[in-house]
Amino acid sequence: MPKTILVTGAGRGLGRTLAELFSARGDAVIAHARNEGALEGVPCERRLIADLEHPEGIADAVAALELEHLDALVHNAGIAHIAPVGGQSLEWWRRTLTVNVVAVAELTRVLLPALRASSGHVVFVNSGAGLAAGPGWSSYAASKHAIKALADSLRGEEQGAGVRVTSLYPSHFKTDMQRSVREQFGSDYDLDRATSVESIARAVVETLNMPSDMVVNDMRIEPPNPLPIRPRATER
Ligand SMILES: NC(=O)c1ccc[n+]([C@@H]2O[C@H](COP(=O)([O-])OP(=O)(O)OC[C@H]3O[C@@H](n4cnc5c(N)ncnc54)[C@H](OP(=O)(O)O)[C@@H]3O)[C@@H](O)[C@H]2O)c1
Repeated sequence: MPKTILVTGAGRGLGRTLAELFSARGDAVIAHARNEGALEGVPCERRLIADLEHPEGIADAVAALELEHLDALVHNAGIAHIAPVGGQSLEWWRRTLTVNVVAVAELTRVLLPALRASSGHVVFVNSGAGLAAGPGWSSYAASKHAIKALADSLRGEEQGAGVRVTSLYPSHFKTDMQRSVREQFGSDYDLDRATSVESIARAVVETLNMPSDMVVNDMRIEPPNPLPIRPRATER
């Protein structure tokens, strides 16, 4: 049965692939981006325009959709700025925690009535960095650890309302973000040893397709032969 699914960060990367996959199978996609231009060519039924750096605007943008039912919310949008704790600026801490955590919490909050009305599903695209943090990952890993906590709290709170919550913890897949992270670390990158964006999107789709008497709470995903993200030379 077709579902109504909201995907954040649907203009490129994993979010765009998800919007394409869901639309192709007949779902009504609500594509989110920070501006209309980012959604050019993205198949969708409706659009949600909101800059996640300014979460105070999310409630009004969502209210304008007048959504009574929402089957799934996929929290996909995110940013990663790599720097050690000693070198990460206050501005990047604020931006990263705002986009990756505060906006995610706010969007979840305002959409909960529509999700409850559909016994809906909230999917958090987390990261391996949400389970373990290493040197250089500081603000990104902190933000992903925070949305692990957010997802785990939400699951316990909403089980009685029939809302399902899944966190995906992918290692690395081929998008702008992965290329940028490798560049920031000065790490080698081998595209043949990274997961494709289509495979990660498929994992999200399968998560939503699970039988109604079960839910996948957490899914850890890695390429079969991962190339670790490691600086070629470490400065001290
Ligand atoms: N790629 C990987 O290897 C990897 C691994 C583990 C986890 N992840 C996670 O997977 C998710 C998707 O990543 P990706 O690789 O597809 O990243 P990506 O290609 O860099 O795309 C990020 C998306 O987030 C949107 N976004 C960023 N800041 C925003 C803001 N302030 N307001 C609205 N939208 C904003 C971007 O929109 P704009 O086009 O407007 O910038 C873009 O659509 C992220 O949560 C990431 O942390 C990725």
